[in-house]
Amino acid sequence: MERFTPKVTFTAATIVLVAYFILPWALKYPVLLGKSRVWEPDPQFANLRETCIALHPSQLHGCEKFKIIGDILFAACVSDWESRRKWFPPMGDLDMSLGDNNVIRDNLYTVDLKTQKLTLLSMPDFPKHIDFCVHGMDVVEVAPGDFSIYMVNHRRGASVVEKFGYKSGSQVALHLATYNGVQQGLINPNDIFAVPPNPGSYPQNEFFVTNDHYFRSSKLGRALEKYLRLPTGSVYYYSNSTGFRRILGRLSNANGIAGFNNRQFDSTQVLGNMVFIASILEGTVAAYRYLPGGVVEKGGFVKLREFAFDFVMDNLAISQDGRWLYLTGHGEPANLDLHWRSPLEVPSASVSYRMSLAELGAYFGNNGEMGESRVERVVVDRMGLIGNASTTAVGDDALNKYWISGLTFRGIMECRLYTSIPYEEEELG
Ligand SMILES: *[C@@H]1O[C@H](CO)[C@@H](O)[C@H](O)[C@H]1NC(C)=O
Ligand SMILES: *[C@@H]1O[C@H](CO)[C@@H](O)[C@H](O)[C@H]1NC(C)=O
Repeated sequence: MERFTPKVTFTAATIVLVAYFILPWALKYPVLLGKSRVWEPDPQFANLRETCIALHPSQLHGCEKFKIIGDILFAACVSDWESRRKWFPPMGDLDMSLGDNNVIRDNLYTVDLKTQKLTLLSMPDFPKHIDFCVHGMDVVEVAPGDFSIYMVNHRRGASVVEKFGYKSGSQVALHLATYNGVQQGLINPNDIFAVPPNPGSYPQNEFFVTNDHYFRSSKLGRALEKYLRLPTGSVYYYSNSTGFRRILGRLSNANGIAGFNNRQFDSTQVLGNMVFIASILEGTVAAYRYLPGGVVEKGGFVKLREFAFDFVMDNLAISQDGRWLYLTGHGEPANLDLHWRSPLEVPSASVSYRMSLAELGAYFGNNGEMGESRVERVVVDRMGLIGNASTTAVGDDALNKYWISGLTFRGIMECRLYTSIPYEEEELG
């Protein structure tokens, strides 16, 4: 009997390992790759696509991230596809040799959502010889009509965060600061959540940045991170007094990040100091509570809860009424690289969900509600009919509007959110 014991122990341990860790991990691949996806949105959004118009398709190209505050839509967009396909670290493009003028100058736009007026913001004090290669970003309103824009800038020397100031109605973004976290390990910044300043107090320059990959130039490292869904992504925090600090690790591609702004605080007090972070190669989003100004203190950053989804999301956004978290990304991620190389031949499925924040259990509900939250499938578009490789979307129930954009979108799509249920304004009109 005794001779068999080690063998039995070994077998048991192997079974436990396979059953509890390897199997669930492996079974997630077909889900995330969209093998069994039902390629239809929920019925209330069935005709959403037919209502879409492209806002400024000849200027707004590949706006990976946009952000709406009030009536202003801020968008970070590609200016030159040739240079973007050569140099865009998030997609593993690291060819530093550029064309004639040898500097990347992407575009920062505003769209007035009331009039649809487009403004290309000039950056008169941003050094002309320095790359401006945009990716994730966030905007906070520091005083009425006065905004701070934080942007990931993949300069060829180093990926950094730039801060700009913008005043409502102006055509200028003033360059205020550059934050470089390379020394601390922030080498692949992806997206930003800027902490809204307390009304009446000094701006703290406080923000969170996701770091999607650990490897930057190692092709093997990048491939292992992707195909094995290695938990090598992280999140950094910056404030004037702390500098950059790594506050979270072990995420499989830390990507979208979103929290509440001052306008959203009023409607949902409970959700105030909360930030959502996507670990996209696991298809999960986790909610954390943070202490403004005290994130690195003990208890200043606490995980509340994790939510699992069935797709590789990209950016997150919270609706202006604070009631919905929008998650937008890639329904067939295996096609994403192919689409990036051959955009006219291979589609890359756009998928966009939203999760109710008003009905969440335990930590979230205003009245102690429990249980899972409602998740709605707004866009499930395998052929990229609305656009390919969606990355950002947000809706507005009160306006019955929905905006979506992505890596290779032309224009930002403005759609009606609900189409198949009769709407009051229609009856009145
Ligand atoms: C943080 O630093 C910025 C730029 O150096 C400065 O303008 C701001 O006043 C500082 N804020 C605080 C609260 O110290
Ligand atoms: C999405 O990509 C496919 C395949 O390249 C293309 O046929 C389609 O026109 C694209 N969609 C849009 C809206 O451009």
